[in-house]
Amino acid sequence: MGDGTVFVGRRRERALLGRALDDARTGAGGSATVLRGDPGIGKSALLDWTATRADGDGFTVLRAAGHEPEAGVAFGALHQVLRPLWANARALPGPQLAALERVLGLREGLPPSGFMVGAAVLALLAEEARRRPVLILVDDLHWVDSSSVAVFVFLHRRITGLRVVMVGASRAEDGAAPGRDEHTVDVGVLSREDARALLRHWHPGLAPSTAQRVMDEAVGNPLALAELPGQLAYGHRRGVVPLPDRLPLGR
Ligand SMILES: Nc1ncnc2c1ncn2[C@@H]1O[C@H](COP(=O)(O)OP(=O)(O)OP(=O)(O)O)[C@@H](O)[C@H]1O
Ligand SMILES: [Mg+2]
Repeated sequence: MGDGTVFVGRRRERALLGRALDDARTGAGGSATVLRGDPGIGKSALLDWTATRADGDGFTVLRAAGHEPEAGVAFGALHQVLRPLWANARALPGPQLAALERVLGLREGLPPSGFMVGAAVLALLAEEARRRPVLILVDDLHWVDSSSVAVFVFLHRRITGLRVVMVGASRAEDGAAPGRDEHTVDVGVLSREDARALLRHWHPGLAPSTAQRVMDEAVGNPLALAELPGQLAYGHRRGVVPLPDRLPLGR
C-alpha cells in the first residue's frame, strides 16, 4: 500500500514546486499552483512531498482539505488554514478582526463578505511571512466550500509580492473547482519505470505475469498499483492460477 515511505518520479512537478518554494523563501515572489488529475494519481502525495520540503526549509506550513460532507459549510476549509495564524490577529485593524472572528465562530453576526475576509487573511499572511515564508496547501479543492474557494482565489492573485506559496489539488473531472489557467499543473500517469518500481516495493511477491497484468490494468495510476493486487486471490498473485479476463478493480 502507499505508506508514504517511498516517493517515485514526478521530476517535473517536484522541480516546479521546489522552484516555487525557493522563490518565496528568497523573496523573489509568491505564487499559486493547482495540481489537477484523476483520483489516485498522486496529487496528495505531491502535496505531502511539498510540505516535507517546505518544513525542512523553515516554512510555516498551513494545511486544509475539502471534505464532501462539509462542502456546504461556509468558510469550513478557510477555518483550517486560519487557526494556526490566529496568533497574529492582534495586528489586524478592528473591522478585519471582527470579520475573522465571525468566520471562526468567535463572534455573532452575519457572515462577512468574501472581500473583507480575503483582505483580513491577506493581512494575517503578510504578518506571518515577515518572519517565515508560508506554504498553504489545500487538498481536494473540488470539495472545498465555495466561500473558502472565493477567498483562496482572492489570495492567489495577491500573494505574488509576499513570501507565500499556495498549492491546491483538485480532481480533473469536477466542474466546480476553480477554472483552469496558467497556474494549473496536470498530474498524469507515472512512467512505466516508476510504476514498476512502486509495484515491486508494495507487492514484492507478485508473479511476473501477474505484475505485468497489474501494470497494464493500472496504466500508471499509483492507487490502482497499490490496491489491485490485494483484490486478487493468492493463487492469482503467485501466478499459479490463470487470471480472469476482467480484474476486480479494472478502470
Ligand atoms: N510518486 C509517488 N510515489 C510513491 N507513492 C505515491 C506516489 N504518488 C502516489 N502515491 C501513493 O499512491 C496512493 C494514491 O495517491 P494520492 O492519494 O496522492 O492520490 P490523489 O491524486 O490525491 O487521489 P484523490 O483524488 O483520490 O485524492 C497513495 O497511497 C500515495 O501515497
Ligand atoms: Mg488526494
